[in-house]
Amino acid sequence: METTYPAYISKHKDRFLAELFDLLRIPSVSANSDHAPDVRRAAQWVADALLKAGAVNVEVLETGGHPMVYGEKLTDPSKPTVLVYGHYDVQPPDPLELWTSPPFEPVLKNEKIYARGACDDKGQMFMHIAALEVMLASGEPLPVNLKFMIEGEEEVGSENLATFLDANKDRLKADVILVSDTGILSNENPSICVGLRGLAYMFVDVVGPNRDLHSGMYGGAVANPINVLCDIIASLHDDKRRVTIPGFYDRVRELSNAERAAMGKAPFSEAEFLAELDMAAPMGEHGYTTLERKSIRPTLDVNGIWGGYTGEGAKTVIASEAHAKISMRLVPDQNPDEIAQLFEKHFKAIAPASVKVTVNAHHGGWPAVTPTDSLAYKAAELAFVQAWGKEPIPLREGGSIPIVALFEKVLGLKTVLLGFGLDSDAIHSPNENFGVFNFLKGIETIAAFHKNYGAASI
Ligand code: BES
Ligand code: MN
Ligand code: MN
Repeated sequence: METTYPAYISKHKDRFLAELFDLLRIPSVSANSDHAPDVRRAAQWVADALLKAGAVNVEVLETGGHPMVYGEKLTDPSKPTVLVYGHYDVQPPDPLELWTSPPFEPVLKNEKIYARGACDDKGQMFMHIAALEVMLASGEPLPVNLKFMIEGEEEVGSENLATFLDANKDRLKADVILVSDTGILSNENPSICVGLRGLAYMFVDVVGPNRDLHSGMYGGAVANPINVLCDIIASLHDDKRRVTIPGFYDRVRELSNAERAAMGKAPFSEAEFLAELDMAAPMGEHGYTTLERKSIRPTLDVNGIWGGYTGEGAKTVIASEAHAKISMRLVPDQNPDEIAQLFEKHFKAIAPASVKVTVNAHHGGWPAVTPTDSLAYKAAELAFVQAWGKEPIPLREGGSIPIVALFEKVLGLKTVLLGFGLDSDAIHSPNENFGVFNFLKGIETIAAFHKNYGAASI
């Protein structure tokens, strides 16, 4: 039977957008403590929206940090239960001057929603609330039981999540987890994300002389911590752009030739990838394609580096200290704690005696792969065929959502990553945006998923 979902979605399109815009106006930047009240306001907004859409037992639950929003709609114990996870916190909007419109004043331009969080993850999370409304409005019984768990500290490493999961095992009982916080290859060639990288994030400090020095009086005779830090960082890759930390690749599960060949068939255009970034050539680990480098291979990247004089004009000085933030993206079966230890050991071992170094692990997360042979995955595949008229290809992505591995470990549950973002959505960057087409199609695909999954599980 043809569903009424698409008709309802297009009829209520403007209101769905207006509601999302309200949420996007709340600057719920989890990294910035000045915004803690805004983060809480966003949590309350999500709770209200869930209630309005028809969820019950809606609560804003305290954690050690930003609150968790919970809600549910359980209608039939004989039907399977889907636990929807998403996040209402966003990345800091900086650098502000690069935005063409203010990050927390959403605007519609060229059929795209521009605002921080438009795609990651307010836009994608809200599609699930809208899908609940759509399904209830159809007048048919809800095809599955639904639980929602929407967190407020995903962008800062979900520090309180493991404790929350442990404390709420019963409440969170479900058959599958559903998350829309990933992307697709393109609107012409949709894909389903079937794997995420893990993360080990490090802070390093290098201290040389006990004070800043005149670079003429002392230069050449003392360690310059910035020079030393640059030397160390440069040595962390070899001439094939492999990471030189001993043991780094020990647990990496290599893909089979067949798996790599399948990946090579994905309609990914390196030329478009480069053109979009205004770059003349790619760069990465030798022997791997661009698509492989950004998803199935582990990496090491400096995310920030500072020290010395950066003000106006020149100052001849050897700084006393230099600092960097370094992230490593991990793939199965690398262990984030182990990789952090290997990094620390290696960094200290290669630092010259002329400097003192401190290495601290910040946050981390396990990599994850999701099954493609489950009922839930098949339901997602069919939902794409129904809503997009195209078979989605399975594809691993390079970002991290540490909760996917945690859900499996603590609740024993597998996840379906039903995301709808595009690389050009510029998540975490200035001018983040989300296509109206993707937003509306996402709602339709999610509702179709529930319907298919409910029907398949009878
Ligand atoms: N939604 C992203 C993760 C993502 C992006 C997955 C693109 C797949 C494709 C998520 O909000 C995110 O940014 N995660 C952080 C991890 C974290 C521990 C701070 C990341 O990947 O840097
Ligand atoms: Mn996200
Ligand atoms: Mn993010």
